[in-house]
Amino acid sequence: MTETLLQVRDLSVEFPTDDGVVRAVRGVSFDLRRGEVLGIVGESGCGKSVTNLAIMGLLPNTARVSGSVKIGDSEVVGRFPGEMREIRGKRIAMIFQDPMTSLNPVYTVGWQLVETIRAHREMKKNEAHAKAVDLLRLVGIPNPDDRFESYPHEFSGGMRQRVVIAMAIANDPEVLIADEPTTALDVTVQAQILDTLQRIRRETGTAIIFITHDLGVLAGIADRLLVMYAGRVVECGQIEEVFDDPQMPYTIGLLGAIPGEDSHGRRLSQIKGAPPSLMRIPEGCLFAPRCPLALEACGDSEPAVIGPEAHHGVACHRVGDIRSMPDRRSIFLREGAV
Ligand SMILES: Nc1ncnc2c1ncn2[C@@H]1O[C@H](COP(=O)(O)OP(=O)(O)O)[C@@H](O)[C@H]1O
Ligand SMILES: [Mg+2]
Repeated sequence: MTETLLQVRDLSVEFPTDDGVVRAVRGVSFDLRRGEVLGIVGESGCGKSVTNLAIMGLLPNTARVSGSVKIGDSEVVGRFPGEMREIRGKRIAMIFQDPMTSLNPVYTVGWQLVETIRAHREMKKNEAHAKAVDLLRLVGIPNPDDRFESYPHEFSGGMRQRVVIAMAIANDPEVLIADEPTTALDVTVQAQILDTLQRIRRETGTAIIFITHDLGVLAGIADRLLVMYAGRVVECGQIEEVFDDPQMPYTIGLLGAIPGEDSHGRRLSQIKGAPPSLMRIPEGCLFAPRCPLALEACGDSEPAVIGPEAHHGVACHRVGDIRSMPDRRSIFLREGAV
């Protein structure tokens, strides 16, 4: 079996606030193997970013983190921020939605790349320069020799995001986390960035966690999928398997919102309402208030957490009935949702 690079076990994150405790992540477990692309999908506020900030050791120090995150043999949970700096960049790196989070407007991108490369290893300036130009080429920046001298504002949004990707992979991390890296970009540029990430995976073997609220983006790039809702994993599996045989109504709803070849003549469905507040969490399945298949019993207890060993995991009380439903994709249409 391929080497496991990242092992997340029963990860929970709470934020104490003046109004109460926000339970942002509640018992998330998964593995990431070498070269794998894992898609994490869910609406805004479902705990995707917090999960990954916990993995990176980048949460504010008010956060209460429990469970375990292992990068190789190193445990991340409970480390001091200074100890994480060594792991970050070298073994694991992150691309944020807004490129300017990672770029400094007052330095050329070449200078920033060289500094990033030299922060983690001894390398002569001219060698680092050559490596920086290679990186710009790898991420698809035209005329990388000239662009080395440009400032971040001289790049378009899409090109700037490529520079950020170059910075993130500068030290050949084993794991690259991309948190909605294409959300702010138009569709054509999105596709180019996804191509770039695919190429990096092919050429460097880096494992990628790709976070998005748009399940459609993951088709064709992810190997495995984690669907998150209200701080939990509610469905996981190989992507083809989940797309062909979705079993959690939330996943079915997200799939219904993707325009696709097989949606001819079928209306796109949409899940009504919004994810719950994670402050005062009620009893029962947290998706039940929005679920067209919810029964009264769904309000009694929350479905069991999906463990890391699950091949195709589903957190739903009605999974047995759903598996035998022939046209489960129309459950959201039947109740009149448009
Ligand atoms: N620093 C923080 N303090 C308090 N609550 C936070 C903090 N960061 C995130 N949250 C809350 O945690 C929940 C999950 O957020 P997040 O992981 O950013 O969602 P996503 O990335 O899926 O949109 C949200 O309810 C959000 O408001
Ligand atoms: Mg987010």
